[in-house]
Amino acid sequence: MSLIAELENLITSLQADLVRVFSPLELEQARVAHLGRKGSLARIMARLPELASAERPAVGQKANEVKARLTALLEDRKAELEAREDAARLSGFDASLPGRLPWQGSRHPTTLVIEEICGIFQGLGYEVASGPEVETDYYNFEALNMPPEHPARDMQDTLYITERILLRTHTSPVQVRAMKGRKPPLAVIVPGKVYRRDSDLTHTPMFHQVEGLLVGKDVSMAHLRGTLTVFLRGVFGSETRVRFRPSFFPFTEPSAEADISCVLCGGKGSTDEGACRVCKGTGWVEILGCGMVDPAVFESVGYDPEEVTGFAFGLGVERVAMLKYGIGDLRMFFENDARFLAQF
Ligand code: PHE
Repeated sequence: MSLIAELENLITSLQADLVRVFSPLELEQARVAHLGRKGSLARIMARLPELASAERPAVGQKANEVKARLTALLEDRKAELEAREDAARLSGFDASLPGRLPWQGSRHPTTLVIEEICGIFQGLGYEVASGPEVETDYYNFEALNMPPEHPARDMQDTLYITERILLRTHTSPVQVRAMKGRKPPLAVIVPGKVYRRDSDLTHTPMFHQVEGLLVGKDVSMAHLRGTLTVFLRGVFGSETRVRFRPSFFPFTEPSAEADISCVLCGGKGSTDEGACRVCKGTGWVEILGCGMVDPAVFESVGYDPEEVTGFAFGLGVERVAMLKYGIGDLRMFFENDARFLAQF
């Protein structure tokens, strides 16, 4: 190859090297390799004496051209790297920051509360059971002593798939399924999703409930109260007090609403800032519905109400989680904001 051709090759050689140059150090290495005292240009020029004197001026001129071109290529790359660095700095990207581990995930507060509640009841000998979210009118209403024209149905409007198939409005249909699938005595705890035509600050169309059911001989309201007290103290702390208020559910008789002493003010009704915002100054917060299984429900599953008695209760999981963790806004449960979820 002639020296002229070798000189011309230096241009493509440097271009190829510059593609892999990203730092001032690499740029300097590329410069030295091509233009340095012992670089490829100098090595080619060292062979000038091999040529006839008439050929030398043309090679010398070519060498000057190539040198100018190589210098320009190095300058261009330098400017390019500086522009990149400026852009990175402007975009707030600091390449010197240490790396971050990928998001590891954490358990959702709803899941945590479900696991805690089921854990307490499993400790009391309850079996965890479940049922379908798409339910029939029979299990959701009729077998629970709510015949078609029953006014209590109005409180639990939902999405109907057909006239007789709907998204369940509560976990109580699993009471019926559990009794039909077993013989007394039995005790089940049932977590799951439920649906209602409800959507505002404190209601979402889908939420979670946990249902409890115990059936046996001579089960009384005192057993219900004792069980709920153990359970609620387990979740909210051993100082928690429990009270029952008379209520109504078609599938329990008598029925009650259970309150706990306020988780924020401890039942005083006030904090340093004035009236307690959690219990609105009453000292109590409503936590669940419960009662003794109505004889009509036993009849619909083929149990003899003269032989067995039982209690049932149902509670909203998000409500428990809000009280337990001090979460102020129900919508946070469903927004999937990693900053919220990472706190649990
Ligand atoms: N299913 C009732 C509701 O969703 C709660 C409940 C369950 C009440 C069991 C009594 C017994 O409101």
